[in-house]
Amino acid sequence: MQGVTRGKFITFEGIDGAGKSTHIPFVVELLRARGKTVISTREPGGTELGEKLRTLLLHEKMHLETETLLMFAARREHVAQVIEPALARGDWVISDRFTDATFAYQGGGRKLDRQKLIALEQWVHPELQPDLTLLFDVPLDIARQRLDASRTLDKFEQEKSDFFAATRAEYLRRASEFPQRFQLIDSTCSIAEVQARLEEIIALKQLPVAGID
Ligand code: TYD
Repeated sequence: MQGVTRGKFITFEGIDGAGKSTHIPFVVELLRARGKTVISTREPGGTELGEKLRTLLLHEKMHLETETLLMFAARREHVAQVIEPALARGDWVISDRFTDATFAYQGGGRKLDRQKLIALEQWVHPELQPDLTLLFDVPLDIARQRLDASRTLDKFEQEKSDFFAATRAEYLRRASEFPQRFQLIDSTCSIAEVQARLEEIIALKQLPVAGID
């Protein structure tokens, strides 16, 4: 693979109902229109085994540490089988959630000791971090309305509002801890306004994703 420029890794994050899923296809198309080969994937999941773990994680009750370890087990497989090989061949990877979600949900929402999460992150992907993380942020009441309007709720979506308040707070804390890779998207805006903002972010030259054109 000598001479191949490594691809970029972009993650989408936010509490349930923040609207990130609506915008993933838009960013994928934006990048494809600029000539990038783009892999769109998700967590938990992204591999055959990871998707099986996703079904368990989203529907079975389990100990918090079991939940966290399974998130990272699925991620280990995802990094090895999908993310790293794609980046190495020069493809761009867009992932619907990554490790920030574990810090936010299991750390913030469920209060798992952050040091344990840092240790697992170091174990599972010591070298890998997203080049850009798009954090879709929305007040809790709006997120709830969007969820209730949609479909049958999974284990996480059924959580109470203090869980989501803590999850959102941890996302925002991480965004201020890593300002160079996070971009905050105000998801109360209209779809068109969010898309304009996404176009602006993707085109910006000073971001770590620079070199896109
Ligand atoms: P989500 O990404 O919201 O998919 P969908 O839009 O299809 O519901 O669902 C994944 C759920 O898993 C979400 O509620 C957050 C949760 N999750 C964690 O708790 N920890 C993690 O590390 C990850 C990746 C996801």
